[in-house]
Amino acid sequence: MTVQPPEPTVPPAEPVKVALLGCGTVGTQVVRLLRLDSGEIAERVGAPVELVGIAVRSLDADRGPGVPAELLTTDAHSLVRAADVVVELIGGTTTARDLVLEAIGGGAGVVTANKALLATHGPQLYAAADAAGVDLLYEAAVAGAVPVVRGVRESLAGDRVARVLGIVNGTTNYILDEMTNGGYDFDVALKEAQELGYAEADPTADVEGHDAAAKAAILASLAFHTRVSLDDVDCEGITGVTAGDIASARDAGGVIKLLAIAERIEDTRGEAVAVRVHPVILPVDHPLAGVRGAYNAVVVEAEAAGRLMFYGAGAGGAPTASAVLGDLVAAARHRGQGGRAPAESAYAELPIAGPERVTSRRQVRLAVDDRPGVLAHLATTFADHGVSIETVRQQPGTGEAATLAIVTHDAPEAALRATVEALRETVGVRELLSDYRVERA
Ligand code: NDP
Ligand code: HSE
Repeated sequence: MTVQPPEPTVPPAEPVKVALLGCGTVGTQVVRLLRLDSGEIAERVGAPVELVGIAVRSLDADRGPGVPAELLTTDAHSLVRAADVVVELIGGTTTARDLVLEAIGGGAGVVTANKALLATHGPQLYAAADAAGVDLLYEAAVAGAVPVVRGVRESLAGDRVARVLGIVNGTTNYILDEMTNGGYDFDVALKEAQELGYAEADPTADVEGHDAAAKAAILASLAFHTRVSLDDVDCEGITGVTAGDIASARDAGGVIKLLAIAERIEDTRGEAVAVRVHPVILPVDHPLAGVRGAYNAVVVEAEAAGRLMFYGAGAGGAPTASAVLGDLVAAARHRGQGGRAPAESAYAELPIAGPERVTSRRQVRLAVDDRPGVLAHLATTFADHGVSIETVRQQPGTGEAATLAIVTHDAPEAALRATVEALRETVGVRELLSDYRVERA
């Protein structure tokens, strides 16, 4: 009789302990998906993932049946100290920064969806994560479920990015889409976006462009290997967009979108990075013009790759939780198997260019006197500032007043701003109705 050698036993991998900070729109979905897919997530990580606690402000709020009440705590600091990976979903920049630094200091990997935190304190946090040799991952911080952070940081690491152009705020895209295609008022559309869980706790950050500016800063830092912070972004939101502006854009074959634009500038002053957020008129055949609802899309123009587009759900609990869990799997795997995700770099240290160094096209809409000579005065104002006119459209007027929409060729921002100011004082101009940048397809 032969004696079989005993089966080699592989000790079961130690569970990776995960602390969740925040259980709101996104946190609730992270808990749900983590519990629903725990078997598959364990396979992908190579070890079980154990949710050891969920920090919140209030223990009394109803969080639905998917959130185990016994895991809730208001003591976020103790929770952070007990974790291998900390997932920060509370938002804000102060408590979140302290907790993330505490987690990193204790050797935990960190996953966050908090763009405001990264755009404000990114350099401090990246340096702390580097010093501790831990992950600091934030795919969900830009464009929700869309894997654009990894795309720019890792897939394009061998290329030279020239320009990044994106719809990166779901709330404002939803509002503009509802105003354009549904004929809704701004306030109604905003309320809907809040109810659907797209908006920030304070929606001012969405409608004033600050949320998009934070994402623009993150994308610009990654694309140009340069530290770009929120203060470096020239920012204008959508609160000034009127139904008349939307109708006028439509008449011109376009739609109004809030874009984040980060570009490499090479002029007589050398190379620099310019980053801005503002409403833009896009021709309907532009790849970003058809991005509807709360969807996000980012176009990246790189020297070798050419034009790439990343598209998908940019906000909402479940889509954002998908990106959070992708990072969580990576960070948990590194805890068990060693290694670290590629980190950002700032070796290029390009200077930040002010908006005056940017070149763009403008559509200016004016209410003017409907009489001989007015067009000639306007043309002189453009010419005096070295700005060339591409098209002029006049809407039928009353015989006394008319509306003109004038689109320029590309011109330096400083000249365009000076032209717009001078137009207000030009003979025959009754009112400057709007002033939008216009992108080419
Ligand atoms: P919510 O406001 O819905 O949830 C925030 C959660 O954090 C709540 O559970 C709250 O507790 C908790 N919290 C707040 N402050 C503290 C604190 N000091 N200590 C402990 N817990 C705290 O936010 P969201 O889920 O919408 O967003 C979370 C993060 O994800 C933000 O950074 C946001 O910018 C980002 N994000 C959000 C997206 C979205 O579509 N909503 C998309 C992409 C990113 P309590 O419930 O008790 O009040
Ligand atoms: N408030 C943000 C938006 C959430 O509307 O896009 C995603 O970051």
